[in-house]
Amino acid sequence: MGNKKRLVVLTGAGISAESGISTFRDSDGLWEKHSVEEICTHEALYRNYDMVVQFYNDRFAQLATVEPNAAHLALKTLEDKFDVQIITQNVDNLHERAGSSNIIHLHGELTKVCSMKNENLIVDRNTLPNPLISREDVAPDGGKWRPFIVFFNEAVPMIEPAIELVQTADILLIIGTSLQVYPAASLSMYAPRNAEMFLIDPKPNTAGFNRPINVIAKGASEGMREFLEIQNVKL
Ligand code: APR
Repeated sequence: MGNKKRLVVLTGAGISAESGISTFRDSDGLWEKHSVEEICTHEALYRNYDMVVQFYNDRFAQLATVEPNAAHLALKTLEDKFDVQIITQNVDNLHERAGSSNIIHLHGELTKVCSMKNENLIVDRNTLPNPLISREDVAPDGGKWRPFIVFFNEAVPMIEPAIELVQTADILLIIGTSLQVYPAASLSMYAPRNAEMFLIDPKPNTAGFNRPINVIAKGASEGMREFLEIQNVKL
């Protein structure tokens, strides 16, 4: 991107909290009244297919009721001054709907499903006769559909491209993640020694950082306003 500095942004559930999407670990570990372990594991998908599929159908349907918030929109605004590259742990489509240009989803996307026979057969839910999948629906390869979500105990295929991006960062901005889930939580280690680092979180967890980090202990929208001021970017 020419002479623009590269701003690499790592986001977590906290950036979507102000849009009304609940975080994972703020409400004593329950995500929409389910324990993460019971609903987000490879084993849960095989043991409780209908429950897991229904849970993600509900999360997908919820997307129609929420909007990107000021923090998502501020990341789009930053594209005027920076080469903004977003790495998100979130499975919502709020970065896309805010207009951000470069987005890597580490943990999958609610808007997509894939075949359980061949997980590289990925389709957008909205191209299906019924975007809310069930065991009766069959993928073209004869497999059952599954949410295109990376569950615990599953590979994180996008972690390599994410690491390569962080290694090119002039600035690394981390927004709204408890940094408790690996490998995403280790990404900051790959930033160049001279990269500036910022963390926006009302309850910042700076335990894992191996260098000084600028902490903005605020919510995402307010914190992004402060970050834009620091970077002399007008909203
Ligand atoms: N603005 C910014 N940050 C916020 C806000 C807010 N309004 N509200 C809460 N937060 C912060 C919390 O302080 C916490 O640090 O957002 C973070 C949310 O942490 P988690 O709920 O653990 O979410 P996340 O870090 O994204 O979880 C990582 O865990 O369950 C898996 O795959 C799932 O992607 C998820 C991963």
